This record gives sequence, C-alpha cells and structure tokens, in this order.
Amino acid sequence: MTLVGKSFLSLRDVSPFELRELLQLARQLKAEKKAGQFPHRLQNKNIALLFEKMSTRTRSAFSVACHDEGARVDFLGIGDIHFGKKESLEDTARVLGRFYDGLVYRGFAQKTVETLAQLSGVPVWNALTDEEHPTQALAFLMTLEEHFSHLAGLRVVYMGDAANNVAHSLMVACAMVGAHFVACAPQAYMPATEQLNYARHLCQETGGSLTLDPNPQTAVRGADALYTDVWVSMGFENGPDVAERVSVLKPYQVNAALLQATGVSHTVFLHCLPANKGMEVSSEVFESKQSLVFEEAENRLHTIKALLVAGLAKEF
Ligand code: CP
Ligand code: NVA
Repeated sequence: MTLVGKSFLSLRDVSPFELRELLQLARQLKAEKKAGQFPHRLQNKNIALLFEKMSTRTRSAFSVACHDEGARVDFLGIGDIHFGKKESLEDTARVLGRFYDGLVYRGFAQKTVETLAQLSGVPVWNALTDEEHPTQALAFLMTLEEHFSHLAGLRVVYMGDAANNVAHSLMVACAMVGAHFVACAPQAYMPATEQLNYARHLCQETGGSLTLDPNPQTAVRGADALYTDVWVSMGFENGPDVAERVSVLKPYQVNAALLQATGVSHTVFLHCLPANKGMEVSSEVFESKQSLVFEEAENRLHTIKALLVAGLAKEF
C-alpha cells in the first residue's frame, strides 16, 4: 500500500483505490482479531492522541488498535499538556514529532491538524475537526459494504445538519465509491460549497451522484441507507443559532414514518453516535432491527487499526 508514512487529514489524502485497499485491510484485521490473532505489526511504535474535544469511540478505537498491534499510546487531553495555552501549536508539533511515530488529533480547525502534520514530520490522523470526520466515513463504508456486499450504486440519504463534519466526510466517501448521496436539510444546513464541488468532481470519475433535496418525503424514496447525526456538534453548543437550528431541523428527524416513506423494506439506519434520541432519531428507529449503529461503532476499531497499520507497519 502507498500510505506508508502519510498523514490522513481528510479523505482527500487517499485515492479511491487506496480507500478500497484500506477497507480490505480493515476486513482482514477484523477477521484476525475475531480469530484471536495479534501479529503486533506496530511493536516499538509510540502514538500520541491529542484531543481537544470529548470522545468515546474514536479515542478507544485508537487505544485498542494500538494495543492490539503492540504499539504504545499516550492520551494527551486538554488540560494535560501545554498545547495551545503555554506553548504554541507550532512548538508542540515540533516537539511531539521527535518523540512519537504518529499523532492523532481531535479538535476544532482543519488548519490545526494540517499544521501538526506539516511541522511534526510524522504521520498525523484526523480524529475529527469542525470540517471533517474522515475516520468515521471509513467505518460507515465498511458497515455498509458488510451489509449490502457492495457500495457502488447504493443510495445514501443524510438527514439533518448536512453542513457538519460527518456529513462532509460521508458525502466525499460516497462520491469516492460511486454511491448516490442525497443531502436532505434546510438550505442553510446543506454541505459547504467547497466540499460539494470536490464531491461532484469525484462523482464524474466514479459514477456516483450528489443530490440536494430539502424535502424529507422525496429525498428518502428508495433509500438503501438513512444516516443522521446530532443537530448541534461539539464546539457549537453555545452558538447563537442553537434554538433556531433545533427548530428548523425537527422535520428531519429519522423516525418510523420516515423509514416507511422510503417505500422499500431493506433500508438500514446508521448514526456515528453519540445519539440524541428523541431529537435527530427516534428511539424506535435507533433500537430497530434496521439499525446498524453498533456495527458501525465496532468498525471504528477495525478501520482505525487499518489506517495505523497502513501508515506505520513495514508489512501486513
Ligand atoms: N463517532 C465518534 O466519533 O464518537 P466519539 O465522539 O465517541 O469518538
Ligand atoms: N458532528 C458530531 C460528531 C460527533 C462524533 C460532532 O462534531 O460533535
């Protein structure tokens, strides 16, 4: 694989072919773990997790993936190190790059994770920024492919805040694999123009498509997968538009009636979690047989492990 020594700051850092290879590797690593095989491909590697926002899945996935592959991991949370307070981002990056073989960053600006990668000199993995959540998209694709046995041609409808990090990464991921992505949101919560343009460009190569439809009833028709995420993302809780966004996003809740409106019985439901049940998704749909939310959560581990192995291991 060509990802050795490379950062993963965005899905833009991998080609559609490399994305396929990552998913294949994740399947291999999942099978190995289920079989009790732990080849320790990352022995003597040290990984740091710099997290400026909370995390359950992503943090645990990186930690367990490192443990499974024999690497050491340090969690450097907000309040643990000088980062951004007594020491600049630039100096922190240059110091940590001399200690660690790879850095994982979760925080706010995409620019921060880019600067870390430029100045640390080691691979950096984006564990969520305000703009993108690329590792989530890997688990999403893996889960869909396990369920449907293919990705190209699937109709994926994203409901709700389609301008957030998860929506952006899912849209680009769908474009990369030739799936049909529908963003269903009020106009003010449609994906950022620059992300739309990038995904549209990819669709020309892959045969995927991109549709913006503010009407939930028409958007969900024929959906293979319905996806949603929280209406208020981390870091935006105190924003001036919180009450308004909750009010305008209410008609976009994924509930039993909306699932029915797909007109097909095979539609699955996915969510990156954590979920705010009763808001973006009803408890009924969340707990239903069609819900693959915990399958997707588990696949965070296998896909993140694939990224680490592809970026740092000599062979796999
Ligand atoms: N989906 C996800 O990134 O979950 P965490 O915030 O718990 O890491
Ligand atoms: N959009 C959410 C995703 C959490 C995993 C957030 O940024 O808070």
